[in-house]
Amino acid sequence: MSTSHDYVIRAIRPDDWPRVKQLRLDALRDPVAHLAFLESYDDAEARADAFWQDRAVGSGERSTTARQLIAEAPDGQWAGSVTVLIEEAGTKDWAGYLVERRQGHVVGVFVRPEHRGNGLVKALFDAGVEWAREQGARRVRLLVHEDNARAQGAYRKAGFVPSGVCVPFFRDEAQNELEFVLEWPS
Ligand SMILES: CC(C)(COP(=O)(O)OP(=O)(O)OC[C@H]1O[C@@H](n2cnc3c(N)ncnc32)[C@H](O)[C@@H]1OP(=O)(O)O)[C@@H](O)C(=O)NCCC(=O)NCCS
Repeated sequence: MSTSHDYVIRAIRPDDWPRVKQLRLDALRDPVAHLAFLESYDDAEARADAFWQDRAVGSGERSTTARQLIAEAPDGQWAGSVTVLIEEAGTKDWAGYLVERRQGHVVGVFVRPEHRGNGLVKALFDAGVEWAREQGARRVRLLVHEDNARAQGAYRKAGFVPSGVCVPFFRDEAQNELEFVLEWPS
C-alpha cells in the first residue's frame, strides 16, 4: 500500500485543465457526492473547456487567492485534491456571514477510493494550510455535511475541530453542514 510519502503534492498548472476536469467528474461520481459537493455531475460535464482552463489558472500555481493542490501517485495518476480559497476580512461569505479575519476555506476535497486511508488526505491538507498561512490567513475552515462521518474523521486527523457554527444544507434545510476550523496562535 502507498504511504503519503509516495505522492508528489503540487499546485495545478494551466496545461493541467483536462485532468482538473476529469478528477472533478470522477469526484462527482462518488457515492457521497450529493453530500460532499455543490455541483452535479451533469452541470460539471456540460461546462465549456474555457471554464476548466480558467480554473487551472485561477486556482493555479501563480494565484494568490485560490490554490488547487493535487497528489500525483508514483504511476502518474492524480490520486486526490483539495482547493483552498482565501476569504478576506470584512467581506461576506457565501452564506452572508461576515468574515472577521483573513482565512482559508477548503473546498473540493476528494481522494480516489484506492488511495484512501493512507494519510494522503492529511498531507494534502497540510500543504493547503501551509499555503493559506503564507497568504496571511489566520485560520482555515471548511464545511462538512453532518452525515459525512468519514470526511469528519479525516478532518479531525488533520487537526480541524468543529467551531459550533452550523449552516443549513442547501439541498435540504432540515439537514446541516458543520463548520470545522484549524486556528493557530497569532
Ligand atoms: C473525505 C476523504 C477525502 C477522506 O479521505 P480518506 O483517505 O478516506 O480519510 P482517512 O481514511 O484518512 O480518514 C477517515 C477517518 O474517519 C474514519 N471513518 C471512516 N468511516 C467512518 C464512519 N462512518 N464514522 C466515523 N468515522 C469513520 C476512518 O476510520 C478514519 O479514521 P482512522 O484513520 O482513525 O481509522 C475521502 O473519503 C473522500 O474523497 N470521500 C468522498 C468525497 C468527500 O466526502 N469529500 C469531502 C467533502 S466535505
